Amino acid sequence: MRKASNEPKQKKTDRSPFHQGEQAIQERLGVKQAMEAFGRKVIRDHLPEQHREFYNKLPFILLGHCDDEGWPWASIISGAPGFISSKDNTHLRINGTPPPGDPLLSAIKPGTKIGGLGIEPENRRRNRFSAIVQQANHTGLDLTIEQTFGNCPQYIQARTFESHSSKSSQQTAKPIAIKRLDNKTKALIAGSDTFYVASSTQAEQRSAGKALPAHYGADVSHRGGQPGFIEIVNDNTLIIPDYLGNNHYNTLGNFTVHPRAGLLFIDDKSGDLLTLTGSVEIIWNHPLQKYFDGAERFWSFTVDHGFLLEKGFPFKIQMQSYSPNTYLTGTWAQARALQNAEETRDQWRGFRVTKKKPESNTITSFYLEPENGILPRFEAGQFLNLQVMINGQPVIRPYTISSAPGQRHYRLSVKREQASPLAPNSAPGLVSNFLHDALQMGDRVLIKPPNGKFVFNTNSTRPAVMLAAGIGITPIISMLKHALLENIRTRSMRPITVFACARSASERSFTEELKNIEANANGFISIYWILSRPEPGLIKGLHKQSSDYQFEGRLNKQIIQSVLPIDDYDFYLCGPDGFMQSTYDSLLSLGVKDAKINAESFGPSALKRKSHTESLASGDARAALKEVASEAVVSIHNKKNKQVVEQLWQKKDESLLEFAESHGFTPEYSCRNGTCGACSVKLENGEVSYLSPPAYPVKQGDALLCCARPASSSTNTIPHLAFTV
Ligand code: FES
Repeated sequence: MRKASNEPKQKKTDRSPFHQGEQAIQERLGVKQAMEAFGRKVIRDHLPEQHREFYNKLPFILLGHCDDEGWPWASIISGAPGFISSKDNTHLRINGTPPPGDPLLSAIKPGTKIGGLGIEPENRRRNRFSAIVQQANHTGLDLTIEQTFGNCPQYIQARTFESHSSKSSQQTAKPIAIKRLDNKTKALIAGSDTFYVASSTQAEQRSAGKALPAHYGADVSHRGGQPGFIEIVNDNTLIIPDYLGNNHYNTLGNFTVHPRAGLLFIDDKSGDLLTLTGSVEIIWNHPLQKYFDGAERFWSFTVDHGFLLEKGFPFKIQMQSYSPNTYLTGTWAQARALQNAEETRDQWRGFRVTKKKPESNTITSFYLEPENGILPRFEAGQFLNLQVMINGQPVIRPYTISSAPGQRHYRLSVKREQASPLAPNSAPGLVSNFLHDALQMGDRVLIKPPNGKFVFNTNSTRPAVMLAAGIGITPIISMLKHALLENIRTRSMRPITVFACARSASERSFTEELKNIEANANGFISIYWILSRPEPGLIKGLHKQSSDYQFEGRLNKQIIQSVLPIDDYDFYLCGPDGFMQSTYDSLLSLGVKDAKINAESFGPSALKRKSHTESLASGDARAALKEVASEAVVSIHNKKNKQVVEQLWQKKDESLLEFAESHGFTPEYSCRNGTCGACSVKLENGEVSYLSPPAYPVKQGDALLCCARPASSSTNTIPHLAFTV
């Protein structure tokens, strides 16, 4: 039974816990209404019991205030645990003063509004408060609490703080005044994974000329990321990414009212404290934003003045581990490299095999890391084209990525295909057998950056259903892992049901990985195994703890209906052709709209969609595609020897890929069915047409040679087509 709480009831008030600046940002970002209700629940006017205990254990506390000139400052006061105490739930006593030179020393007077932030560095817990200085002297501060709330650890890195013996050296340290950043202070900032930012509503405070409500005042917040997340533009300007937070927008809200900030950096190794104050500007659109992992927007900081206090922090700091959220964020160097990688997306890049792991009797995973350290981005569910040399010949195949975006490698999970005994050195099986048997750790392969439209949308709140068979589970695993990572970042997740099909238990792969994914999803992910030929002795049942699989036979609409309550779902379908078509048809017969079914086929023929068949029947798709010419002059430029071959193409010559091959060219190709993009070329003259719209998104002016044919000319002349291979 729970103990009755002694917690005092929060006073009911009509006033919003957020001021106009915070509300303006919340409004702009579409969370104002939700935060209004949420804020009233989580922002208190007193210290809960657990906050009182929390502050009492801390070795340091961060305080933010604004000086008489309107400059905000972030300050730190340290002491032996116990130096912060509370006689009741509306008062805090801090037995300590800021280090020498800190403007807080002279600003502490009764009535000063300050913001406070406590962090338990080992376990990354944090709580915040705003308060008014009741009285202050050379021994410390007495504060009256106005607001308190707890915060998630988010981007706080775990650290330990050792000994407090050098407090005296802190007190004798001499602050060095700063007007601009020099090499030493730039190096400190460049290597920082953490800093603290103070902001305030000072302008409001002044214009009001009277006591302000609790939601106006000063604030101090934590900012964390990977070293290199702060851009040092020049001697006095920094640009800082703003990551997804708690949606309160205390700092950005203060910036809109009073565009100034105080920053505090602590050097882990030397204990130096760098304290700066300056002006800020919110940057809503930055050209590198789309390449900067985690950045939702940015803000610039222009130094006005500050000081460096060498050995000003009296603790030895030991880094323990980065926050899991920090791994989902980028740096400026990575953003620039990614931008460059995106701009040269069509080029082959060298990768090394860093791990090779068997997943089942027939599937092996290959972990690939880029030679230049830059992993081009991808979305969960996409594939890439892999090129290997077999018998001295380059061979290309598309493989879906089974790892999640945001990791430092691509993981490709490849099924060994049975090679024909009559033709062991040709498809099918040529590349998969080579990868399984010959490709080893450290070997070099070439890849083209990932592509594909079969991607998972984590922003949608609609429940998702994923249906996979055999090796079709690979993009689904990437999607599930991505959903879990996004849940860490955004603290929201759409419910996902997975139907995973295999012939037998021994042929299924990733069983443990899927089990872990399900176990870590807090009930948001449910996975059902369907085995068509389960081994004798396996236990079938819906109680997963005591069963080996859930359904026997082939996936059908009865199984789907027995698991899914009636709802509006997005479906993701991936597997061999037969499975795809029958499952797609089952979903349609259950009344699912074609547009709600996302599909990726692992086989030579693409899924026959109802919408496509209907539009073909009505002539829409044919109208969208140009008419294929009966004949055309085709010029093929050879990239290597610069020669040009000009020949007459006729309908019997089939696709341009077959035509080029028949004239001695060896263009790149992989799937030969319009899904992978490996055969894409730029058209230098003329237009092409397709018998049916290719699955791969062809860019304007490009052609997929494997399924393109010359388009007829509108002027009744023989069309002329030109491209380079
Ligand atoms: S070879 Fe895959 S789209 Fe042409």
